Amino acid sequence: MSLNSNGVIVVRDVASLRAQVAQWRARGEKIALVPTMGALHAGHVSLVKAGQALASRVIVSIFVNPTQFAPNEDFSAYPRTFEADVAKLAEAHGDCVFAPTVPEMYGTGYTTTVSLAGPALAGLEDKFRPTHFAGVATVVAKLLNQAQADFAMFGEKDYQQLQVVTQMAQDLDIPTRIIGVETMREADGLALSSRNVYLSAEERATAPVLNASMLAASKDILAGQGIETALDKARARVTSAGFVIDYIDVRDATNLSVVEKYEGRPLRMLAAARLGKTRLIDNIAVG
Ligand code: PAJ
Repeated sequence: MSLNSNGVIVVRDVASLRAQVAQWRARGEKIALVPTMGALHAGHVSLVKAGQALASRVIVSIFVNPTQFAPNEDFSAYPRTFEADVAKLAEAHGDCVFAPTVPEMYGTGYTTTVSLAGPALAGLEDKFRPTHFAGVATVVAKLLNQAQADFAMFGEKDYQQLQVVTQMAQDLDIPTRIIGVETMREADGLALSSRNVYLSAEERATAPVLNASMLAASKDILAGQGIETALDKARARVTSAGFVIDYIDVRDATNLSVVEKYEGRPLRMLAAARLGKTRLIDNIAVG
């Protein structure tokens, strides 16, 4: 365990994390965990702030989890900005960074993974990243067990992930309360993401078309247009802006099941589309 020069406690192993948590708990403090892969931006900081509204101590975990990346994905290129991350957390008055190594997280002989169904098999992210959520859920289960926090904060930005984690915590009787936090966006609507640094200047200028097209489709649906008609219009607009679409769909907001038409139940529009080499995801409430 070490106290960073700017007052943030940095721990690298599970035993030290547990010792720190036990100390706070002995004083009756509440603890919130914010799991991240680092490259922190204002979206991550908003999770820290939401944690501070519920708990007196906030731990941010920073771990680029290899098991949630497929071999063709950007695990080795994923941005790693540890010093800047710790500085951002200090500025936000966060308390602790938990940054384990891969061998600390996955010891020799590691074999167990969480097996998922329900929202993890909705045919959205899972269709394009079939091994992704098993990696996410397993590392999140480990982080929740390691930190034993009262609350764990997850962004709505990764909406399917939020539903998968919520369902897992419920099914496995994990006592930490899973809290969803609204997506933070740039002024032009682009959802903040660690992967936005991959966008060229031209791609960055195009990127907000995804969110704008989704908002327009949501408005059309609420005005009575059929879901597929509204989505087709959005898909055409996004494609002509230069994206290659993985999906733009509307689903039940809780279990992500397919819906045919708007009947007053909360719906969610979810999208993933590639702009050059960068894959962007977004989602909005419908209704
Ligand atoms: P990462 O992509 O670093 O995101 C960490 C958390 O920040 C997630 O809960 C994500 O939804 C949230 N987040 C990202 N961008 C956001 C934005 N613009 N507004 C609000 N919240 C935002 O998601 C992961 O890491 C990993 O899969 C993880 C859960 C840490 C497991 O490895």
